[in-house]
Amino acid sequence: TKLTSQPRSNGMTNGGARIVVDDDDEVLSPTDLSEMLAEGTKEAHDRAENCQFVKDFLRGCIKRELFKRGTAALYFVYMAIEEEIEKNKDHPHIAPIYFPAELHRREALARDLEYFYGEDWESQISLSAGTKPYVDRIHEVGQNDPVLLVAHSYTRYMGDLSGGQILKKVALRALKLPSTGEGLNFYQFEGIHSHKGFKQLYRSRMNELELDAETKGRIVDESNRAFGFNMMVFTELEEIGKTIKEEVQDAGFGHGHAEIMEGG
Ligand code: HEM
Repeated sequence: TKLTSQPRSNGMTNGGARIVVDDDDEVLSPTDLSEMLAEGTKEAHDRAENCQFVKDFLRGCIKRELFKRGTAALYFVYMAIEEEIEKNKDHPHIAPIYFPAELHRREALARDLEYFYGEDWESQISLSAGTKPYVDRIHEVGQNDPVLLVAHSYTRYMGDLSGGQILKKVALRALKLPSTGEGLNFYQFEGIHSHKGFKQLYRSRMNELELDAETKGRIVDESNRAFGFNMMVFTELEEIGKTIKEEVQDAGFGHGHAEIMEGG
């Protein structure tokens, strides 16, 4: 997965700085924020991909009730991110990465929640204990240190444009959702035609931000914190899953036949 994007050195030098060209033939420098983030969150990404909830999900082992709760958790997270980004949209470190029409997920999530919970979805969902620290942190950062919103934005949106597309396919099969995309609006970026192209644009915008080395380091640290908060959400969902009895049909990739994967 992420390993395919490991930059390789092309041996060129740039005033002492190594120039690397990635698989997309983008010219990158190790001091570019996009590179620092990709490199500096590699381990956190591996941990996230390998936590039990995510592994189960990827195997198509996801209960409808958990998927609903996960969607609700994301709704609160994106409400916070997008509220703080809106407030700071003219901030010089936020304006270049402000792409509401392309990225913002709050409305897509609201539609998904209406599909799963019905018209009165809002009264049926609440901010869970495992999601609250994440939401609180986003507001804190938005108020006191808005440059760190770059980290929160990167961690979620770039992930959604990458692995998120795998999750969409798994959820479609596992939950037998309609092919019209109802319930999966979150994964569908209507304003983005090329995920790869948009990710390149987003990376270049991050790299054009005027930031000193110390601030870049703090953004990488904050992204690692964001990965940690996402893991807390997954861990909570996994715990709730243990208390829910619901049959899950096989829908992961690599199986041609249906099998009951749990509850038996
Ligand atoms: C990138 C898969 C979970 C955040 C990627 C990429 C893939 C991927 C294939 C593309 C790498 C590239 O562009 O070459 C997955 C899978 C996951 C998962 C299968 C498990 C379900 C997560 C989680 C987060 C996350 C939980 C954080 C909330 C990111 C970010 C990137 C990324 C920020 C962009 C990396 C960069 O290019 O800088 N992921 N991912 N991913 N993922 Fe994930």
